[in-house]
Amino acid sequence: MTVLTNDSPKSRVNKSLPVLKKNYNNNLESDYTEKIEELDKNFSYQSNSDCYWSEPQQSILYGTPLYQQASLAQKIALNHLHWLGSYKIVADSEMEVIFYNTITADCLRKANKDYEFIANLLAHESEQERHHIHCFYKVNYQTLRSLIGAKNWLKADLDNFSFASSNFQVLPYLLSSSANLIGKIFLKQQKQNYSQNLASKYVDQSISLPNTSGFFNGYSGNRHQSMRELLPVGWASSPFLASNFYAVRYMANLSLKNGEFEIHKYYQKLRRNNQFIPAPTQISHYHFLDEAFHTTTSLFMGRDFYKYLPEPSAYEKIIANLSVLQIQYENLNSLSGIISNRFESDRNIIKFVMKILQSPVFDMSQKEAIYWLEKCLCYEHEGFHVNLKIHNHLLSSLREFLENLDYLWPINREVRLMVSGGSIENALKNNIKGFKNFYRTIEKD
Ligand SMILES: [Fe+2]
Ligand SMILES: [Fe+2]
Repeated sequence: MTVLTNDSPKSRVNKSLPVLKKNYNNNLESDYTEKIEELDKNFSYQSNSDCYWSEPQQSILYGTPLYQQASLAQKIALNHLHWLGSYKIVADSEMEVIFYNTITADCLRKANKDYEFIANLLAHESEQERHHIHCFYKVNYQTLRSLIGAKNWLKADLDNFSFASSNFQVLPYLLSSSANLIGKIFLKQQKQNYSQNLASKYVDQSISLPNTSGFFNGYSGNRHQSMRELLPVGWASSPFLASNFYAVRYMANLSLKNGEFEIHKYYQKLRRNNQFIPAPTQISHYHFLDEAFHTTTSLFMGRDFYKYLPEPSAYEKIIANLSVLQIQYENLNSLSGIISNRFESDRNIIKFVMKILQSPVFDMSQKEAIYWLEKCLCYEHEGFHVNLKIHNHLLSSLREFLENLDYLWPINREVRLMVSGGSIENALKNNIKGFKNFYRTIEKD
C-alpha cells in the first residue's frame, strides 16, 4: 500500500475547489440565461433594424475609405453584420465547448469523487451554452434574411468567414507531424480506451466533436486531421490535460470578452441616457454577464486546479503546449483591417466581403466590388490601426494569464505567434497576395 506523505502532491488539498463551488452557486442563483431565452423568443429583426447594436467601431469595414462614404443605412447594416459574424464564431466555439466540457467532466469524475460537483457545474454551463447558441442563430438567421435576402446564405457563406488558405507553411507542418509522431508513440492505448468510451457513452447522448470553425477547431477550418484527433484524446485523458483545456477555454473567454465588453458598455450608455436598447445589444449584455461565470470557471480550472495535481509527464506537457500553440496559430496569427477583434488575415474572407458588396446593402457590380475590395484590403487605413489597439489589449490580457502556467514553452507563455501577427505591414502584404490570387480566379471565369 502506498502511504501518502505530506510532501506528496496528491495529499495536498486542492484549494481551487471552494472557489469553483462558490462560482457554481453564484451561477445557479443568476437569471441571465432566462433573460436571453426571453429575448430569443420575442426577437424580430424589423423592431431592431434601424439603429446601431454597438458602437460604430464594431462594424465591418469600419475605418475604410468605403465606410467613409457609406450612407447611414449602409453603416447600420455593416454594424449588424459585424454582430452577426462575431456571434456566428461564438456559436461555433460554444458548440465545441459543449463537447469538451462533457469529455473533460467525465475524465474528472472518474479521477476523483471530489470532482463530481465540477462535472455538474460543467453540465450546467453546457446547458446555458445551448440557450446562447439557439438565440444567436435566431438573430443571425433573421438578420441575414433581411439584409442579404437569400435563405441559403447562412451556412455556405458564413463559413467563408473562416475560408481557408491552403498555402504550405512551416508551422502547420510541424504541428501536424509532431501530432502524428506523438500519436504513434504515446496515444495508441489511450485512444482505444477513449474511442470505446466515446462509442458507448457519447453516441448515446448524441455528442460528437462538431464540424464547426470555432476557437477550438480553429477559425481557419484548416486543421490537420491528426491535430483534430489529438486534442480531444489528450484533453480527455488526464486531470492535468483537462485543466489545460480550461486554460485554452480561458483564452477563448478573453477573446470573446475583448469584443463583448464593448457592447456591454454600449448597453450601459443607452440605459443611462434612457434610450431604446436594441434586443441584440441586450443579448450581448446578458451573455457577457452569463459568460462571466464560465470565465471564472476557466480561470480557476486552467490557472490553479492543476497546481494541486501530481507533476505532469513529459507527454502531458507536450500535448498542453501543442494545444496552446495550435490556438495561436489558428486564431491569433494576423490582423484584420476590416473586422475589429479578428486576428486572422483578411485574405481568408475575400469571398465574404464580395458577397456583402454585391448584396442589396451596396448593390455593386462585380467591377465596382473589386475596385473597393482592393481599396479596403490592400492600402493602409484607419481600420488597421483601430484593430491593432484591440489586438494589443487582448495580447496583454493573454500574456498576464499565460505567464502563470509554468509548464508552457516561451513561445506560448509570451504568446509569440500572436505578437508577430500584430503587424500592419504583414497584414497588407498578405492581403495583396490574397487579392491577386482572387483576381486571377475572377479573370478565368
Ligand atoms: Fe455562451
Ligand atoms: Fe461560455
